[in-house]
Amino acid sequence: MIKRVVARAYANIALVKYWGKQPGFQNVPATPSISLTLKALRTETIIERKPGGDDIFIINDKSTDRISTKRLTDYLNVWRTNKLIDGKYSIKSTNRFPTKSGLASSASGLAALSIGLSAFSRRKISSAKLSKLARIGSGSAARSIVGGLASLPNTANPSARLLIPFDEIPWGMVVVEVDKAEKEIGSRRGMELSRKFSPYYDAWVGCAERDYRRMLKAIQVMDFTRVGEITENNALAMHACMIATRPSLLYWTSATVAILQAVKRWRNQGLESYATIDAGPHVVILARQVDLEKVAGRARRLKGVKSVMKSMPAGGAKIIKCS
Ligand code: PMV
Repeated sequence: MIKRVVARAYANIALVKYWGKQPGFQNVPATPSISLTLKALRTETIIERKPGGDDIFIINDKSTDRISTKRLTDYLNVWRTNKLIDGKYSIKSTNRFPTKSGLASSASGLAALSIGLSAFSRRKISSAKLSKLARIGSGSAARSIVGGLASLPNTANPSARLLIPFDEIPWGMVVVEVDKAEKEIGSRRGMELSRKFSPYYDAWVGCAERDYRRMLKAIQVMDFTRVGEITENNALAMHACMIATRPSLLYWTSATVAILQAVKRWRNQGLESYATIDAGPHVVILARQVDLEKVAGRARRLKGVKSVMKSMPAGGAKIIKCS
């Protein structure tokens, strides 16, 4: 019987964003999404079978708070109810991120946890099934299971599909962390608020569906300019929907805006790069791998920037050790 598993997964940043859920509890996205998984955003998770008692969760060397403990226990219960695993577990997860911003850590965290749990399962779990299970934990985690450039449709019970493997992608990203003012509203709650209270929600869902189709075509021919334009426009459309939510989900700070403007300026000067923003103030810049250093160097000189980190693409979630 397996007692201890070490798993690894990388976070991803969406080029076409998932923002909004279909009704139900399974994190079925209302919008289809496409992402790039990033090598610099790595999570390592150790899962050990416990003789009894409750599940234990330690993230970055600290026990989880009541809300996270419940959320993660509920997630393990999904596996237990489906008779994929039994018993209780001790889970120790570490984000080996060069920044503390918590960028997309739910994607890598839930992907590492899911693949780790699959090692304890008596049943063979396919990659599609694993991606669906990860999605129940966190929508974006479904995409980190496959890595590279991955798509997640908004069909019933979707799983992520690998579009381009990580070692065939000539692009990377520069993660620009800015100083943060206050705690943001998390994606789960934020999506719900936008669905209920943003006058632009339906328009956003329609826009994301169109962007998704266009992005699939652009990726098929690896047209960097098209991919970049859709990426930036899609993020801005999502934020327009967020900002219009009543009360507003305004995740940006003045530094966020300054970076958006700088990226536009660099493009006009011939340094082709495109910005995207998740549910927070940080900006992630998509660029060709040959331009990553230049983009990072320029980003470091901007006001209000706390840290800058270059990243190459990464592959899917993996089991590192099993004993
Ligand atoms: O899967 P979640 O709950 O972390 O939501 C992800 C939401 C965004 O990061 C804003 C967009 C995305 O597709 O990753």
